[in-house]
Amino acid sequence: MCGIIGVTGAADALDILLDGLERLEYRGYDSAGVAVMNDQEVVRWRIADGTQSVATLRHVTQGAPEVHAGIGHTRWATHGQPNETNAHPHLDCSGELALVHNGIIENHAELAAGLVARGHTLVSVTDTEVLAHLIEELLVETGSLVEAVRQALGLVRGAFAIGVMSTREPDVIVAARRISPLIVGRHDGASFLASDIPAILERTRDVVILEDDQIVELRPGAIVVRNLDGKEVTPRAMHVDWDIEAAQKDGYDDYMTKEIAEQPRAIADTLRGRVAPNGSIVLDRFELNEDQVKAVNKIIMVACGSSFHAALVAKYAFERWTRIPVEVDIASEFRYRDPVLDSQTLVIGVSQSGESVDTLQAVRHGAEGGAATMVVTNVVDSTMAREADAVLYTRAGPEISVASTKTVVASIVALQLLGLHIARVRGSLDDASFQQEVAALQSLEGLVAETVTRDAQVKAVAEAIGDARDFFFLGRHAGYPTALEGALKLKEISYLHAEGYPGGELKHGPLAVIEPGCVVVAMATGGPLKEKMLSNVAEVKSRGATVILLVDDGDDEAAAQGDYRIFVPSAPELHAPVKDLVPLQQFAYFLARGRGFNVDRPRNLAKTVTVE
Ligand code: M6R
Repeated sequence: MCGIIGVTGAADALDILLDGLERLEYRGYDSAGVAVMNDQEVVRWRIADGTQSVATLRHVTQGAPEVHAGIGHTRWATHGQPNETNAHPHLDCSGELALVHNGIIENHAELAAGLVARGHTLVSVTDTEVLAHLIEELLVETGSLVEAVRQALGLVRGAFAIGVMSTREPDVIVAARRISPLIVGRHDGASFLASDIPAILERTRDVVILEDDQIVELRPGAIVVRNLDGKEVTPRAMHVDWDIEAAQKDGYDDYMTKEIAEQPRAIADTLRGRVAPNGSIVLDRFELNEDQVKAVNKIIMVACGSSFHAALVAKYAFERWTRIPVEVDIASEFRYRDPVLDSQTLVIGVSQSGESVDTLQAVRHGAEGGAATMVVTNVVDSTMAREADAVLYTRAGPEISVASTKTVVASIVALQLLGLHIARVRGSLDDASFQQEVAALQSLEGLVAETVTRDAQVKAVAEAIGDARDFFFLGRHAGYPTALEGALKLKEISYLHAEGYPGGELKHGPLAVIEPGCVVVAMATGGPLKEKMLSNVAEVKSRGATVILLVDDGDDEAAAQGDYRIFVPSAPELHAPVKDLVPLQQFAYFLARGRGFNVDRPRNLAKTVTVE
């Protein structure tokens, strides 16, 4: 997730770009850059200074001459390190064309090979730069910037929101989108583009939210929108009356709700470009070769909190698909228990931040013991990503709410992708099953999108259980870590007592505390253990607990056994946790809001824990 901005026709164009980038920083801050049109010349500044990137950019551009047009970018790296060379805007060979991009160009490698063969020099390690060079070629052929961009976009696969400018048409900026968000607006002789409304809200309140596959020509005070087939369309304008804070949250009340809603996109981005058209899996920086993968005879996943739960969910899939034994360790315990490690062990750290000190130390301990190491993380170039032998990035975008939501589902999806890759290399999964599992993974985006929209049923249940204070979350199989995560979310933001338990373990102790007033949330979605789960439900009901059941659509028979029910679309048992987590997140959210708490900043917690 990156942020882009552009303006033409404003005397203070550079300030508009820098102010907009500040507002877009939440979308990424690995680096920031601007390119402006100065006397028919493109002038560019780029800074890779982590969280300080935009501030440093403002500093280095102080005193620059007045310009009327430019584009800007704040980066959340997905391809290539977060350094200055990979920072946007990217230029073509002549330096007369500049481009910013948010998204992922899936076929960048093959396009780059063609461009290099035709004499272009690509200087960065990004998926984006190919676009600048393709447009450069087509601009020579067509003589029109908008036409060159339109034709270039016909050659790419993937997601994009772009802004392009060229010295050939110095007042013009061309923008386009597919999947990645893009809005345009105009006011007082100037035209603007941005990834979201807050970036330009101080300049205009009249915006157009572009649809997929639309391309826009921005001139000072004039905007023409076309479909990518070239046909002009009349865009639907919108007047924004939110204040800036509401706009930053995209109109949502808080970041947690926004991030829950972003989960379908987080899944789609994590999978994007990683399943090749022939069905095989392409992992960007998976630097363990096939022989190393074949030699692995034990996998240990190490993680904390929600990432630990993501790893636990993945264990079920890993073992079934790869037939390699998988242990999942709480990172803070791992290195103190003298684990058995050798060169055939693969230690996988799972950490959205890539910085949790316990997980970092656990991965280091794995390496010291001679194991191969890898990390699954959301933050490019985080300490763990730099130190591990291999890395697989989730692409959920920055997560601002302390309670993790979208990064948890993205970690599960990334780990499952990795499990399928390992199974494929080792030949432990037949072709038909492999394809079936890949298809199931790909269907999760749609299932989660559907589940997110069903918040009203969850809110009604949360309101109905009133002021309960004790909660048990029960699950079996992959539903067990789902239950653990449901309980963690609830206690973390609502400060209520909640425990996650495997359903079958109940009668070995915890039943003693089940009594009227206690709420049991049971994962009773499909799978071979559903009947056993329902027997556990009967056990708690007979002791007076109030039961909330998570059940598959249409399973009225199971639903009838709870006091309340939450319906979810069904999915194969190994993949079900990804969408079952959504109502659990919403449940915690509604209870916390009902108790008047700030869900984004819960007490006693930090987003990244860097002390042991
Ligand atoms: O950045 P990490 O994934 O390593 O963080 C691990 C935990 O601190 C984190 O998942 C924590 O449990 C969250 N607050 C959960 O919402």
